[in-house]
Amino acid sequence: MTRMVDGTPVGPEITDWSEVLRAGVIGVGAYSPGVSGTETMTRLGLERVARLNWNESPFGPLEGVIEEATADLLAGAWTYPEGSYNELRAALASWTGARADQVVPGHGIQALTVALCTAFIEPGDAVVIPQPTYGLYAQAAAVAGATVHRVQSDGSLALDLERIAAAARQHSAKLVWICDPNNPTGLRLDPAGWPAFLAALPGGCVAIVDEAYGDYVEPRRRTDRLADVEAGRAVIVLRTFSKIFGLAGLRLGYALVHSALSPYLNAVHEPFNVNRAALAAGLASLRRTDLLAARRDQVRDATERLTSRLTRAGLRCLPSNANFVLVDLGTDDIPVTDALAREGLLLRPGTELGLPGYVRLTIADGELMDLVADRLVHAVSARPIRE
Ligand SMILES: Cc1ncc(COP(=O)(O)O)c(C=O)c1O
Repeated sequence: MTRMVDGTPVGPEITDWSEVLRAGVIGVGAYSPGVSGTETMTRLGLERVARLNWNESPFGPLEGVIEEATADLLAGAWTYPEGSYNELRAALASWTGARADQVVPGHGIQALTVALCTAFIEPGDAVVIPQPTYGLYAQAAAVAGATVHRVQSDGSLALDLERIAAAARQHSAKLVWICDPNNPTGLRLDPAGWPAFLAALPGGCVAIVDEAYGDYVEPRRRTDRLADVEAGRAVIVLRTFSKIFGLAGLRLGYALVHSALSPYLNAVHEPFNVNRAALAAGLASLRRTDLLAARRDQVRDATERLTSRLTRAGLRCLPSNANFVLVDLGTDDIPVTDALAREGLLLRPGTELGLPGYVRLTIADGELMDLVADRLVHAVSARPIRE
């Protein structure tokens, strides 16, 4: 029967949205990256903060990228970005060694993660995700309706590929997520163990490998997963311009996939999802990849400067292969990160990452790292030691 209000027919009201939403969405909170710099400044009345909690690149975009990318941008703002991103895909292909039809751009690994969940997960499918790792995989898979099985690392916090593959077999998993180097530990996988891992996965299981921080690893030490893609193995590689390229705010990432899979991914993600600014800056960055080695060295030097200071003071740092370091404080992390936030130094408390007693902090220039190390050591020394 048509509902009437004041004599006018109106549409039905929904009093409980959970009755109409997909079951997978209910009870899954939004992905939380932790507190933002602006929120902290407002809450604590600070004029500025050092944002060391989100693993952005405080070194900024590569030199010249912004100038080159903005030149034509505003004039072309009224046109949609080119839907197939041919120029970007060609540039990415020549830099990575892939073929252009194996490259699927998206507005960040985050968007590609959601697109992959849409493409692969039927409600009830099993998905295996290590712990600790980047939080979005489990959240996006659960929203898509997957049953998520976590594989807890041991005290070393390293990913245990044998146990991950065993869980994938036990649950007949559709997807398994691997982050290499892993966030939040910064640890990387030994390339020697990779073929055996793939061989141990069950039939029909796809390994999605997030290489967001792979650019910080020296090329000769990386696992060559493009060869897997090329060979038709069940591997999808995700990469981003948010980290070493310093373009997190523009949202640009890409997947390297078998060419037979690209059309399906292009079908599930939003059309025109990479905007013109991101395309322009991505292309300008790819014209400057000769600058990346110096960036990598800069981050490695600042990491060594930070970790040697912390280690001398008795704090244990995990060996990092990324642009952040995980530090074992040996005491509660929240009072420590609160104390540093009041001084304008924003670090990620381990508690938010399932690692109470740790903090994760982004690498910035050496002087800032000296300051952070000193303040961290000072804040920890004021705390009781955890058993
Ligand atoms: C492991 C990992 N993957 C992906 C992302 C996000 O990548 P993007 O900015 O390309 O969405 C992050 C951001 O911190 C990350 O740590």
